[in-house]
Amino acid sequence: MPAQLIDGKEMAKAILIQAKKDVGQMLERRARPTLSVIQVGSDPASDLYVEKKKLACQSLGIEFDFYLYDTNISQRDLLIVVKELNSKFHTHGILVQLPLPGSIDTEKVINTISPIKDVDGFTAFNLGLLEHGKEGFVSCTAQSILKLIESTGQPLEGANACIANHSILVGRPLASLLLNKGATVTICHKQTKDLAEHTRKADILVTAVGKPGLIKAEMVKPGAIVIDAGINRQSNKILGDVDFEAVKDVASFITPVPGGVGPMTVACLMHNTVKAALLQHS
Ligand code: GUN
Repeated sequence: MPAQLIDGKEMAKAILIQAKKDVGQMLERRARPTLSVIQVGSDPASDLYVEKKKLACQSLGIEFDFYLYDTNISQRDLLIVVKELNSKFHTHGILVQLPLPGSIDTEKVINTISPIKDVDGFTAFNLGLLEHGKEGFVSCTAQSILKLIESTGQPLEGANACIANHSILVGRPLASLLLNKGATVTICHKQTKDLAEHTRKADILVTAVGKPGLIKAEMVKPGAIVIDAGINRQSNKILGDVDFEAVKDVASFITPVPGGVGPMTVACLMHNTVKAALLQHS
């Protein structure tokens, strides 16, 4: 029997409806949640992601406050912008679109964001809370993947989870979230000797690598939950990392690309922005 599709688009709607209600309540108190987004340089992927965030904000009544800089902006000037937004009363959430140019110390920029405005959940403070089993602001992609996994109703306690991604955007926060739920987690990366050896043991397999066709049917445990957070543009199509047609006959649940992790991640960003606004107004 082919795997059941996990519909991220449908699940995102429920999160957006709740966020819109919360925005409405804030507007009644004459406060509008505001998300400040900084982008340095423009590449098609970042432009598209930022556009999606802008449209989501507009549809909910969240103010989208956008700063676009040339790639020659100095690190010093970028840090000044972040610090100004930290102290700006009307800014509730700050998001620095990644990747930044190689001339800029990304870690330094991220860790200059005030943790209470860190709606991406990338600061050492928020990642550290997660490591302690607590949740401040949690990476939107990691949060969305956890929700997609939980929607299957399958137990996480004792499950073997394998994540092909070790970044602070996805792999590391997701590993903490799954660990906190009682899963046994393996993180794979470029230096992993035999990826298939790990993926074949996984009851939950998550990939966010950026290689179309990376995960083949023979690498998947029969009945596994497969979450594909890969985004690969090929001519006019967007593909994930998973060989969807073959893997759907092995897995029990699978996310489509597009329509899986992507819409849920934007919805979780809206949730985090409203949460930041509510915290700062309480
Ligand atoms: N670039 C790709 N994904 C993301 C994300 O979730 N947040 C930020 N800030 N940059 C990204």
